[in-house]
Amino acid sequence: MSVTIGTPYQQHAFRVLLLGSGELGKEVVISLQRLGVEVIAADRYPDAPAMQVAHRAYTLSMNDANALRELIADVKPHLIVPEIEAIATEVLLEIEELGLATVVPSARAVNLTMNREGIRRLAAEELKLPTSKYYFADNIEDFRQACLEIGFPNFVKPVMSSSGKGQSRLTDASQIDTAWQYAMNGGRVNQGKVIIESQIDFDFEITLLTVRAINPQTGEIETYFCDAIGHRQVSGDYVESWQPQLMSDAALKNAQAIADKVTTALGGCGVFGVELFVKGDDVWFSEVSPRPHDTGLVTLASQLQSEFELHARAILGLPVDTSRHSIAASAVIYAGIDGDNLTYSHLAQALAVPHSDLRLFGKPEGFVKRRMGVATARANSVHEARENAQKVAKAVVVSR
Ligand SMILES: Nc1ncnc2c1ncn2[C@@H]1O[C@H](COP(=O)(O)OP(=O)(O)OP(=O)(O)O)[C@@H](O)[C@H]1O
Ligand SMILES: [Mg+2]
Repeated sequence: MSVTIGTPYQQHAFRVLLLGSGELGKEVVISLQRLGVEVIAADRYPDAPAMQVAHRAYTLSMNDANALRELIADVKPHLIVPEIEAIATEVLLEIEELGLATVVPSARAVNLTMNREGIRRLAAEELKLPTSKYYFADNIEDFRQACLEIGFPNFVKPVMSSSGKGQSRLTDASQIDTAWQYAMNGGRVNQGKVIIESQIDFDFEITLLTVRAINPQTGEIETYFCDAIGHRQVSGDYVESWQPQLMSDAALKNAQAIADKVTTALGGCGVFGVELFVKGDDVWFSEVSPRPHDTGLVTLASQLQSEFELHARAILGLPVDTSRHSIAASAVIYAGIDGDNLTYSHLAQALAVPHSDLRLFGKPEGFVKRRMGVATARANSVHEARENAQKVAKAVVVSR
């Protein structure tokens, strides 16, 4: 049974509630709008990027279970699409249980991946996927012990954090106290718990965009893969990505097998960003987002259907096509300054770079390390695509 889409604002409208209205959500909204879906966007601050293109918007704290319940009761969505991790996920489990709406990709997936402990234990202990060595600690003594046990260098991350917040890479025991303090202050919700991971000495890291969608021939959910995306991270935040990342056939097979196992265990339909470390033919699971991934912004330039279109189609039960038509790269544009009312100039110079494109997210406020836009470029080689995407990003001038 395929979905029937009504008319926005009218009785039979097909309504999607987007929880989190950042730049990735903005592209998902645009993809859903093109298919005639009514989209309601929510976030904790007004005028967030996805709100600017949605039919309606709500501003609330999505960590507040009661506020979230009220929102869902008011909107009566068919689908709930979380775009961020900071959500009262117990409400989503409840809503799914009551059959009030479908949570994308599933309440279980959203609940397990919001906390590093949930997804790591599932991947390593239940699914037996290769991961870094790890411990969890919720007090400084256990933390110290775990650091010494794992050795150095190691990575420390609050169990509830993203984009590198509260994270440190420790190279020796003298950094233990500082790292603990930083993690306690830097997490999203102060959970008082961290994961300590051994460093994987990888050749490169990838995001394997994995789509669970209904195959129209069989009517069953099938797993589809995009070409691997390579990326470079600085302090836990992505600065550039490219597609395809070349790798050995054996490594690709390993990567796809890991992605298949973890996404099947999470369940539901949609795009997943599976983060993997690769060395030679060996692959380690790092983490997974049950939604489009920031490094996947490159697919706006490289694929027939971007990760956002793939997500929109998959969650509506429609067929997907993960093929790539070009080699491309993306480069992040940071504000570089703090403030609101920011302006973006030298755009003509930026877009004079051949086969390039730009997304400016329209965030109402910037700060030095806030991602305000992204540049993409297509080229005949990954090297050239990366150079060009960075040229575009660097050419854009952000001012107050
Ligand atoms: N165990 C590890 N070994 C080697 N490198 C690591 C390890 N853990 C993290 N890193 C590096 O730090 C980056 C960020 O780590 P991770 O993805 O766990 O954090 P995050 O805050 O969830 O980031 P994001 O939200 O941007 O995906 C990784 O992409 C990788 O470059
Ligand atoms: Mg990550």
